[in-house]
Amino acid sequence: MAQENVSTHPMVLHKLTILRDKSTEPRKFRELVKEISALLTYEATRDLHTIKKVVETPMGKAEGGEMEDTIGLVPILRAGLGMVDGVWELIPDAQVWHIGLFRDEKTLQPVQYYNKLPLAPTVGVCLVLDPMLATGGSAAATVSILKEWGVKNIRYIGLLGAPEGIQHLNQEHPDVPIFLGAKDERLNEIGYIVPGLGDAGDRQFGTG
Ligand code: PRP
Ligand code: URA
Repeated sequence: MAQENVSTHPMVLHKLTILRDKSTEPRKFRELVKEISALLTYEATRDLHTIKKVVETPMGKAEGGEMEDTIGLVPILRAGLGMVDGVWELIPDAQVWHIGLFRDEKTLQPVQYYNKLPLAPTVGVCLVLDPMLATGGSAAATVSILKEWGVKNIRYIGLLGAPEGIQHLNQEHPDVPIFLGAKDERLNEIGYIVPGLGDAGDRQFGTG
């Protein structure tokens, strides 16, 4: 079932507005990517399962719970890298499995250049991290790789999504919920999100 979750949290809107601003420098940009990623992770993990756990407080027994699933973060290189630290603030034990893809500038098709996943899956839930869901090609290809790896519970977390990318990912992987900071208007003629924020990789790494 297709699921699209666009944050309505005022803090996400506030931080995204500074992130989009072309005068925001890479240092501040990286800080915001991290903070927004943490806020979106809180929303994306709301329905994860816990198992009962009883602890002793100074006053007696308390029944609580602990996370049941082993979680894997899957940043799509390069731009997804900056999201990892934010998610780790909330899930410090999460494994990180990098997938390297770049978008061919002419065809806009994803080209894979890095994948060191072991043979059998080591996690039960994967959070795919990439700031930009543009045509959706990179996200859909990454989800396919993870499904082939054997992971069934996959969620996508992105900062900005274009309607075209959301539709693409939904069509190819309707079982994968999409969590976004904002849904933008459209893609331009060279596949960039409008109004967007420009090139997320270049703005983080100062390479633009
Ligand atoms: C950007 C972005 C996504 C992809 C989105 O990466 O980080 O991975 O483009 O586009 P799509 O939805 O049309 O596939 P890019 O290819 O620029 O590589 P980079 O992260 O190394 O800069
Ligand atoms: N990749 C980016 O970094 N920005 C876009 O707008 C689209 C793809």
